[in-house]
Amino acid sequence: MPRYSYVNGSYVPHANACVHIEDRGYQFADGVYEVIGLINGKYADERGHFDRLERSLNELQIAMPAKRQALRFIMRELIKKNRLKSGAIYIQVTRGVSKRDFKFPKAEIKPSLVMICWPFNFDGNPYIKSGVKAITVPDQRWERRDIKTVALLPQALAKQKAAVKGAYEAIMIKDGYVTEGSSSNFWILKGKTLKTHPATHDILKGITRTAIEKIAKDEGLTIKEERFKPEEIFKAEEAFFSSATSLIVSAVNVDGKNIGNGKPGPIVQKIYEQYRAYANGDYSDQIEWSA
Ligand code: PDD
Repeated sequence: MPRYSYVNGSYVPHANACVHIEDRGYQFADGVYEVIGLINGKYADERGHFDRLERSLNELQIAMPAKRQALRFIMRELIKKNRLKSGAIYIQVTRGVSKRDFKFPKAEIKPSLVMICWPFNFDGNPYIKSGVKAITVPDQRWERRDIKTVALLPQALAKQKAAVKGAYEAIMIKDGYVTEGSSSNFWILKGKTLKTHPATHDILKGITRTAIEKIAKDEGLTIKEERFKPEEIFKAEEAFFSSATSLIVSAVNVDGKNIGNGKPGPIVQKIYEQYRAYANGDYSDQIEWSA
């Protein structure tokens, strides 16, 4: 069965899917994206991802390429065409195609819209059981990390550094404090308190993070949105990353040192199970996201 992607109005065989060489996303990283998990037929946290897409576009003064309802329709058509049950959906919107010039084009141009999907077996993710290793790296990103732009070179370099060291994720450090993972939010747990970086311009406020905040409170945990130093990671009893594709995955070893006993702990496991139930729609309505 051929694989399809969506590019500017057409569903095309993936191998032929392409954008113009003067797309501003290609030349200036002038665009934003979202990644949504399709978990056993359910669009996990779909509402929050569209809330954040609108906000990212707004921050860059790029128009929505279509109404939210239309985007949701295109996404569903794409999933149907690819006969996908579980997977990841990538949505990218750039300012559009225009002669290379740093300034925004004078004439109104149409934003480019691309959607890609691929299968992902959330139920068979081995890292949920094993936990993952991570390393710490300097955070070399720009100062508006709260916008989900396609300018991901610092994250790609960080992730590559981690991969070379046999680690799954890179934890980024800015001015002596932990910000987040290269493509995830990062959390530590001590007693009944969960700590994560406050949702400032220094991190991307995750959609998964927002759902976890609610879940964790319902589980009787206290959430402290507070900066912490890397040393604190090693005093934690449990630690984890959250994102649309990893969901909730324990960090069991950082820079070669074990967290707790070096195995995923029970509280992170519980949050994972509750998130799965929430994403499945058994828990409550999908949570709104705001910056
Ligand atoms: N990344 N922080 C960063 C820097 C991220 O890139 C991501 C997600 C998150 C978590 O956000 P959410 O829970 O909404 O997925 C935090 C996606 C998965 C990616 O780039 O593939």
